Amino acid sequence: MKFFIDTANLAQIREAQELGILDGVTTNPSLMAKEGIKGDKNIMGHYADICDIVEGDVSAEVISTDFEGMKEEGGRLARLHEQIVVKVPMTFEGIKTIRYFGEKGIKTNCTLVFSAGQALLAAKAGATYVSPFLGRLDDMSTDSSQLIAEMRMIYDNYGYNTKILAASIRHTMHIVNCAKIGADVVTAPLSALKGLISHTLTDIGLAKFLEDYKRVIDPS
Ligand code: E4P
Repeated sequence: MKFFIDTANLAQIREAQELGILDGVTTNPSLMAKEGIKGDKNIMGHYADICDIVEGDVSAEVISTDFEGMKEEGGRLARLHEQIVVKVPMTFEGIKTIRYFGEKGIKTNCTLVFSAGQALLAAKAGATYVSPFLGRLDDMSTDSSQLIAEMRMIYDNYGYNTKILAASIRHTMHIVNCAKIGADVVTAPLSALKGLISHTLTDIGLAKFLEDYKRVIDPS
């Protein structure tokens, strides 16, 4: 399973990259706004900075909602850097855009996916990635694991190459569940990625090892 980080924060992307497990980055307009990046030039520059830090795919989302606008905006994003994946919302116009970019060999990430039907249509249109939003489903008392399992079954049934990119990850159990079911990628905040490292028994065990070693080797 690939690990992406879900942020536009350069320091956090660098930290995840230093860990040596990072395969890519996803951003969205809210995450870009959180970093206070304003203006087309600065936004493009920020995406280029992200691409300089990581080696894998970097999702950059269009903010146009019509086909012509998404085509133009997505084209500019794709030309910016070979690592850019054009992130497109799950709408009628979005599906047309995914098909258009697919035919041009430009990678896409279909975002805001909440049902198996949406996921099927995005794969049929040729999306490179499809992003089901787990946390937002769970917030509505809907079992997000079920959606990942349905997507896995549907994509395997028909041999779709589209990758399941599990998004809206809130905690480490989301990541573990995705790995158990067979998501291709998870995109998670740094806190959830780092959460995979922690276990109280690891901390207690390490403290005891060091204490025992110090008592014998360096008793002073
Ligand atoms: C994914 O690509 C989205 O950017 C993101 O995961 C949404 O997460 P949220 O529900 O925490 O905003």
